[in-house]
Amino acid sequence: MPSHEVVVVGAGLAGQRAALAAVEAGRDVALVSKLHPLRSHSGAAQGGINAAVGAEDSVDAHIFDTVKGSDYLGDQDAIEFFCREAGPTVVEMEHFGTIFSRSEDGALARRPFGGAHFPRTVYAADRTGLALLQALWERLGSERFTLYDEWDLTRVVVREGAVQGIVAFDRKGGEFAEIAAKSVVLATGPAGRIYAKTTNAHSCTGDGIAAAYDAGAALKDLEFVQFHPTALLESSILITEGARGEGGLLKNRSGERFMSRYAPHVLELASRDVVSRAIVTEVAEGRGFSGPYGGYVNLELMHLGEERIESRLTEICDYARRFAGIDPVKEPIPVYPAQHYMMGGIGTDIHGATSVPGLFAAGEAACVSIHGANRLGGNSLLETLVFGKQAGLAAAAHAERASAPSLRASDLEEATAPLRAWSSRKDGEDPSLLRAEMQQAMAVHAGIYRNEADMLEGLRKVRALKQRFENVRVVDQSGVYNLNLTDALETGHMLELAEVILVGAYARTESRGAHARTDYPKRDDARWMRHTIAERSPDGPKLSYTPVAVTSYQPTERVY
Ligand code: FUM
Repeated sequence: MPSHEVVVVGAGLAGQRAALAAVEAGRDVALVSKLHPLRSHSGAAQGGINAAVGAEDSVDAHIFDTVKGSDYLGDQDAIEFFCREAGPTVVEMEHFGTIFSRSEDGALARRPFGGAHFPRTVYAADRTGLALLQALWERLGSERFTLYDEWDLTRVVVREGAVQGIVAFDRKGGEFAEIAAKSVVLATGPAGRIYAKTTNAHSCTGDGIAAAYDAGAALKDLEFVQFHPTALLESSILITEGARGEGGLLKNRSGERFMSRYAPHVLELASRDVVSRAIVTEVAEGRGFSGPYGGYVNLELMHLGEERIESRLTEICDYARRFAGIDPVKEPIPVYPAQHYMMGGIGTDIHGATSVPGLFAAGEAACVSIHGANRLGGNSLLETLVFGKQAGLAAAAHAERASAPSLRASDLEEATAPLRAWSSRKDGEDPSLLRAEMQQAMAVHAGIYRNEADMLEGLRKVRALKQRFENVRVVDQSGVYNLNLTDALETGHMLELAEVILVGAYARTESRGAHARTDYPKRDDARWMRHTIAERSPDGPKLSYTPVAVTSYQPTERVY
């Protein structure tokens, strides 16, 4: 059985940065990923990475904007650490070879992003994630660690109160296998495919979050789900916030810049929760456009001119042309919000440590919490690098002092027995149908606007789906590249997390950031200025609450 000191699961920016830190700390490292690292969802990040590197900007302003953007649910001590690391992190990535866009004087170009007081988002046209991913991959150097690519995580094995390793399905080999580890870092990214409409890649199925939950780790604030305001109609491909940062306008059917009614000071550059609610309201109240793919509003770029559009927003031009038959140089882009990001995840401290010794997490799979109830655009790429590094360092330090892992053949047997039963059934549920029903239920019952009756109905549906999943059947009997099996694995993970989202959202009787309840429209700091902790129990998620760290900024009304 393979054994490594540090096993990092997930090879996007957070996973690669964790692996780099652990390698440089002298540890024997393995990187396990369901995709080739360069195909990770980090590569889909478009608009940029935040760092207060401009003369007019400051780390303090970045801290304040992030706290306010989080609707005061972000832990301010963690946010301070995060924002202080921003400048050095961007400079480091530049030294690693990232080709960032430049301004006329040769400095790092910055564009405005929502919820920020200054243009703070450093970018590489609108393919920033890809530029970072390529530079980091080259820096990491494939000869310095062991890569297990196209391996799907199925379990984190915990015994005697500590991590012993993982169990995963090797797609190419067509077999389940175990890898022993002293430290495991989960950097498996988002779980956006829980929803019917999402900007997330098909790979974003919350595998690491679900495995951590199964292993007894505490999840945090999972009810806070971000919807990006401008997803391309029909396909829900991301149309970067950078488009509004460059001067793009949102207009309704009457040609009105409707954001003036929702965010009079900053209009299109309000935070994402505010802009998403505004678009949904415009459409619901009959001021949007309608078409075969539902209601929408227009994102206009034409006034920016062809040169600027093509050079700074290259990718989204391509997406609009290919996937919507729209040329953004000549016509508006039809957009509507889609699920984009999970503010919640595996609860960690700033060093990536979870509630399980030897288990660490970073990136979107984790919740430190710096984003609180709403993340600012541009803070996600930064999060992957800042906390990926911290988790890698902490995992390396843990591995240095931990005793040898005791993974046994019976661990593999125990972890895979239920999964093997899926393939031996003569009759049972099709995982892809369960997945589709879950995605619809979550879109309808746990979307941008929520209320008690809707969420109860959503919970009833998700629990019924979980029950049906007990009888899931994998028809494809082949081993190699059995996508029917990986579909079932992913669907099982997402159903667990869908339940946690709904239970947490139902319990939180207030509106804060991305959690907007029509039956509790106000923020309630006296009762709800606290984090939701969810732990697995035989009866479903068991909730408890922990305080928010407040250092400099007492909560005030959040106006943009
Ligand atoms: O709109 C965007 O480019 C997305 C950026 C982000 O989620 O940080």
